[in-house]
Amino acid sequence: MSDHAGTEAVLPEGEGVRRRDFINIAAVSAAGVGGVITLLPLVSQMAPSADVLAESSTEIDVSAIAPGQAIKGMFRKQPVFIRNLTPAEVEAANKVDVASLRDPETLKQRTKEGKENWLITMGVCTHLGCVPLGAGEGEVKGEFGGYFCPCHGSSYDTAARIRKGPAPKNLQVPEYAFTSDTIVKIG
Ligand code: FES
Repeated sequence: MSDHAGTEAVLPEGEGVRRRDFINIAAVSAAGVGGVITLLPLVSQMAPSADVLAESSTEIDVSAIAPGQAIKGMFRKQPVFIRNLTPAEVEAANKVDVASLRDPETLKQRTKEGKENWLITMGVCTHLGCVPLGAGEGEVKGEFGGYFCPCHGSSYDTAARIRKGPAPKNLQVPEYAFTSDTIVKIG
C-alpha cells in the first residue's frame, strides 16, 4: 500500500498526465465493452456456447419407473415429469376426440414412436407456472387422470393435455430422445 502511494508521490508531472490519459482510454474502452455486452444475448440465442449446451441437457435412467408410476426430474432448472403410462392410460388418451380439445394433439404426437407409454413433459402448468400434482407417489391426478394444478384447478389428462381449468395449453413436451432402451436424454 505505502509503496504504491510512494510511487504516486514521486511520479514526474508527465507521467501523471499519461496516467490520466490511460484512465480516459479505460473509460472509453468500458463504454465500448458496454456496446458489445448488449449484443451478447442476441448472439447467444443464435448459438449457445458449449457450456450452456452442456448444462441444457439431462439424462435420466427410466428403468426403475414401473407402469403407472412417474418421477420428477429437473431440466433447465425446471421440473420435468417422466411417466410410464399403463395400457389403460394409453387407451384413455387415445379414446379422446382430439378435435374437442383446447390444444388438439394426439398422444402419438406427444410421444416417440414405439414408446407411446413414455409421457415426458415439463412439470410447469401452462396457466401461471405452478407445478401440477400427479407425478409424485399418492398425489392427486385430477378428474382426467393425468395431472392436477392446485393453484387454480387446471386438470390435464393421461397425455398431459389440458382438459379443464384456466390453463391454455397442454403441458409442454421438451425436446428429448431415447439414447438406449432405458436412458432418456432431454434437451
Ligand atoms: S397455475 Fe396452474 S391453474 Fe393456474
